[in-house]
Amino acid sequence: MKIVNTVNEVREQVKAWRKEGLTVGLVPTMGYLHEGHQSLIDRSVSENDRTVVSVFVNPMQFGPGEDLESYPRDMDRDAGICEKAGADLIFHPEPSEMYHDGFSTFVDMDTLTGGLCGKTRPIHFRGVCTVVSKLFHIVTPDRAYFGQKDAQQLAVIRHMAEDLSFGIEIVGCPIVREEDGLAKSSRNTYLNKEERKAALILSQSLQEGKKLLDAGERDAKKVRDAIVEKLRLEALAKIDYVEIVDWKNLEPVGQIDRQVLVAMAVYIGKTRLIDNILYEPE
Ligand code: PAJ
Repeated sequence: MKIVNTVNEVREQVKAWRKEGLTVGLVPTMGYLHEGHQSLIDRSVSENDRTVVSVFVNPMQFGPGEDLESYPRDMDRDAGICEKAGADLIFHPEPSEMYHDGFSTFVDMDTLTGGLCGKTRPIHFRGVCTVVSKLFHIVTPDRAYFGQKDAQQLAVIRHMAEDLSFGIEIVGCPIVREEDGLAKSSRNTYLNKEERKAALILSQSLQEGKKLLDAGERDAKKVRDAIVEKLRLEALAKIDYVEIVDWKNLEPVGQIDRQVLVAMAVYIGKTRLIDNILYEPE
């Protein structure tokens, strides 16, 4: 496995692979890898001849006052995880390699990005779409892997790949959780012991909603109310949003009569955590 820092090195390597007729998978990450990322790498390794993992904490997707500086980083550990999972190349650029002085071209989306996380993080998806577009152009993979953990991001990237004719298959992968149900996240490292316990309320409240859905409840408001009520039982939890939206267009639904995304963002202390489930009525 090679680790490279420049766009040219990635291009050269991919060109060599293409000459041999090999397929390429891309797993974009911000590093501090855990089993969630690893599941994406595993999937890419199993579906492609070569796998590229990008590790880049993308400044453009962090708003003012967000955790860009404190975002956890550990390249040595990440390299070990990638190597073990069978990745072939890590692309680990400096911000200046991705954004030269005077950088001024952005990829923005009029739909899908206004609600859910886009409300609290208004510039986030512009940063995500811009950096992922650049990664797609640099790596030119056959397939790219994204987690359902960031469900809105997955929907946005799928839409962008279609709109901009990238010709890259976007593969969505299920959420990997801790044994007690907490969705794995690099940001879980911010939680102290008490907060880590409190953070369980996210997956537990989603399960409460799923119970109602499984029992046949189709009124989205009732399901949402039950989830909110459960979240309010946890004193350390502050709700950013809880929403039930159409998985196709991310618009809120009244009746659950199609596949929906039940999504939430909740502050546990100062840490903003997200979680979701997809639900499709019979
Ligand atoms: P990051 O948060 O590092 O996540 C990289 C990828 O791993 C994303 O597709 C995310 O959905 C997936 N992932 C994270 N936790 C997961 C879990 N518990 N189960 C399954 N998949 C999980 O998302 C980003 O980075 C950035 O926005 C990026 C796409 C790299 C653009 O900068």
